[in-house]
Amino acid sequence: MRSNPVELSLAVAIAALLVLAPLRAAAAASDLEEGRALAKEWCSSCHMVAPGVAASTTDAAPPFPRMAEDPAYTEERLRSWLWAPHPPMPDFDLSRFEIESLIAYIKSLNSN
Ligand code: HEC
Repeated sequence: MRSNPVELSLAVAIAALLVLAPLRAAAAASDLEEGRALAKEWCSSCHMVAPGVAASTTDAAPPFPRMAEDPAYTEERLRSWLWAPHPPMPDFDLSRFEIESLIAYIKSLNSN
């Protein structure tokens, strides 16, 4: 059986995916500074993202420092919230890396 160009490029793409997938997973951990930047850029219009850092907060949006200190806000809870955002929050279509970075950042605000 001779492979046609389409099959060949498909095979190359699959091979590339198989090689790159574990690398992506390893790189997907989290980055505190990335989380800080994302929070400031995307979340600060509603949330207080650091003590005193908020463009204009709405009362309804819990401040990040409070989330960091409240044990009710487990990483799992933050993760599932950000994975499938709920109105009134906009759908940011966050990547796994962005979600983990935001969680790492929020957790870093815990001063206890
Ligand atoms: C347009 C305003 C708005 C923006 C922008 C926004 N949020 Fe929210 N967020 C809210 C409101 C309002 C709530 C409270 C919703 C509720 O309790 O039903 C909330 C709740 C949350 C919660 C709490 C979920 C829970 O379990 O109670 C988390 C975590 C959160 N936001 C994270 C973020 C992050 C991270 C960003 C930036 C990527 C962001 N939000 C951007 C308005 C916003």
